[in-house]
Amino acid sequence: MWKGRFQQEPSELLKSYTQSVTVDGRLYRQDIRGSIAHARALKTAGILTPGEFDEIESGLKTIGEEIAAGTFPFREELEDVHMNIEAELTRRIGAAGAKLHTARSRNDQVAVDVRLYLLEACGEIIGRVRGLQRSLVGLGTRHSGAVIPGYTHLQRAQPVLFAHHLLAYVEMLDRDAGRVRDCAKRMDVMPLGSGAIAGSTLVLDRNAIAAELGFSVASPNSMDAVADRDFACELLSGLAILGMHISRMSEDIILWASAEFGFLELSDRHTTGSSLMPQKKNPDIAELARGKTGRLFGNLIALLTTMKGLPLTYNRDMQEDKEGVFDSVDTVLATLAIFAEMLDAASLREEKARSAASDPLLLATDLADRLVEGGVPFRQAHEIVGKLVARAQEVGVALDKLAPEEFLAASPLLTPEVVRRTFDLESALKARRAPGAPSPDNVTRELARWTAQLV
Ligand code: ARG
Repeated sequence: MWKGRFQQEPSELLKSYTQSVTVDGRLYRQDIRGSIAHARALKTAGILTPGEFDEIESGLKTIGEEIAAGTFPFREELEDVHMNIEAELTRRIGAAGAKLHTARSRNDQVAVDVRLYLLEACGEIIGRVRGLQRSLVGLGTRHSGAVIPGYTHLQRAQPVLFAHHLLAYVEMLDRDAGRVRDCAKRMDVMPLGSGAIAGSTLVLDRNAIAAELGFSVASPNSMDAVADRDFACELLSGLAILGMHISRMSEDIILWASAEFGFLELSDRHTTGSSLMPQKKNPDIAELARGKTGRLFGNLIALLTTMKGLPLTYNRDMQEDKEGVFDSVDTVLATLAIFAEMLDAASLREEKARSAASDPLLLATDLADRLVEGGVPFRQAHEIVGKLVARAQEVGVALDKLAPEEFLAASPLLTPEVVRRTFDLESALKARRAPGAPSPDNVTRELARWTAQLV
């Protein structure tokens, strides 16, 4: 493709070192769409005859079908997907094929292909985020009255509804979808016509190309258009954050599924056994998702590092952008799908979770709140209850089983009736009715809101 200037054949090692078709071959659909739109603009500009355009269009479509069918022989010595398709087209149709690359460079071509690919991927990711949100809402709805201990520092903190915990992830995933949507907005810029760096003296209707490919605008600066990989960095960053959320969810699932917690029952279909220990039922899906998050972070850092020292505009370093971004997209899509399926088949052991949440210590703060209602400053109330907790531990009884005299000695406000009411789990949950808190009414409303929003 550049043989005019060279007298020696390229080294075999160079060919395999510089080729990218093993990675970018998956861009063939976008490459073909981009080439057809570009060819149509060449026809409008009078550079291609209508007959030549038709030959190009049908030739490209046939090649696309062959690639889809797996019968197209990609050749590494032709470097990348762009050259493979163009070379084969030209071999088949001759002169018209050789005109396709007029007023175009692989620099603007690869930019348009990757943007088209990732725009589609953004749509799929958002769809699957929605799917996982639906599964979380579904699991919460199947156990809408269930209570679990909520944790801080992985120590039992306060009782919450199980659904409230799940809905926390629904909120996180919603922000994740928002980040992908935002990133897609900025990705929606059409680079073709920017050429290698400075456009072309052959002027094409770039707006028509943008419209045909479904982009909102054509890029306003040819140098930016071929040098920019922000869109990939942004997506990788959004996927890294999404991965972080799924990794935290994984950790909860792994803990909940352990014998020590014993809250969550995963289906046989979504757990694995051990080749040695017959009793094992392992939460490998969640562990792998947690593990794969390392790669999601790594892919972001790798691309940022690749880009940081590059002078404008295109540098071959940028060919390294694709492997990581494809890997992150694949990883996230697969993880979202399998998590949705796993949660659809999972269930809470409500009794086990409730009994863990029934530890009266989880309502120590509520007891302090009763003192506050009687006019005791909170810091003081905290200390009074703290001493009662220590006393209960000393005597070796549950906090609510301390003698009535002990409560009354701590404060006359702590009558047997107040103590009884405070340590009633149902009333304690009902009392948490501030907006955003997990009273059963609030959680029912939130489940209904998300169910409606996720249809
Ligand atoms: N395979 C290349 C890439 O992915 C296409 C652009 C090549 N441009 C060039 N001037 N060598 O970046």
